[in-house]
Amino acid sequence: MCLSVEQLFESLWQQYIQINPQANKIQCLLKERGENVINDHIALRTFNTEKLGIMKIANTFIDKGYRIVEEYDFAKKKLNAVHLEHKSESNHPKVFISELRIQEFSSDFQKIIHDIDDQIDPGHVMDELFVTSGRTWKLTFEQYIQLLRESEYAAWTAALGYRANHFTVSMNHLTTFFNLEELNGFLLDQGFTLNESAGLIKGSPGEFLEQSSTMAAPVNIEFDFTTQPIPGCFYEFAKRYPMPKTGRLYQGFIAASADKIFESTNT
Ligand code: NI
Repeated sequence: MCLSVEQLFESLWQQYIQINPQANKIQCLLKERGENVINDHIALRTFNTEKLGIMKIANTFIDKGYRIVEEYDFAKKKLNAVHLEHKSESNHPKVFISELRIQEFSSDFQKIIHDIDDQIDPGHVMDELFVTSGRTWKLTFEQYIQLLRESEYAAWTAALGYRANHFTVSMNHLTTFFNLEELNGFLLDQGFTLNESAGLIKGSPGEFLEQSSTMAAPVNIEFDFTTQPIPGCFYEFAKRYPMPKTGRLYQGFIAASADKIFESTNT
């Protein structure tokens, strides 16, 4: 099988709105206003094992015309990350991939991640739809809680598996909102809950990037022997500003803001 980039993003979107129907509702509300919704970026989460590290996940996108543009170190969340851009088509979303540095956690924690890793066939990781494969391993609720004590990111990734953690609407492509405040106000009026960690808007024009996001709504996830509601996926909104020298819109990501956006999946 060989999917086009558009088909891959469509598969990711369909999987994403199954557990995050609010994103579909918001997209419909924006379209009703006559907006053409363009994605700024999507984000994927993984662990830094040999089998599942960033490069393994990035390859799916590199095969479809993407290249790695920038690398990041999120010290506080113990993450490495990269962002990729399509080589020729600027309207294709950027792809942000992060990996948890598991060696920085307790040995019990690492054992759970290695158990997960052992259950994944390396051949499956090469499959272009691996990024939409969800969870294909066993996990107990006790293991989930054990991971959650040390890292919300790890618990989310272990429970929900491979899927888009969020899609992000490009505010720059919206024409009926003056700024991000106005979009946030519209979403709050429509009854959506937004991430208020460090204020509704993360970043500033001075950092060339402003972001806001919904809080992930809980989804019922099947664990071994039990089903429990846990935070699912969120929807993000990003406005980028031109950089002084080039006049080109800033395309990177800000660690301090991303730290706060990551908290959109907090319990
Ligand atoms: Ni994001």
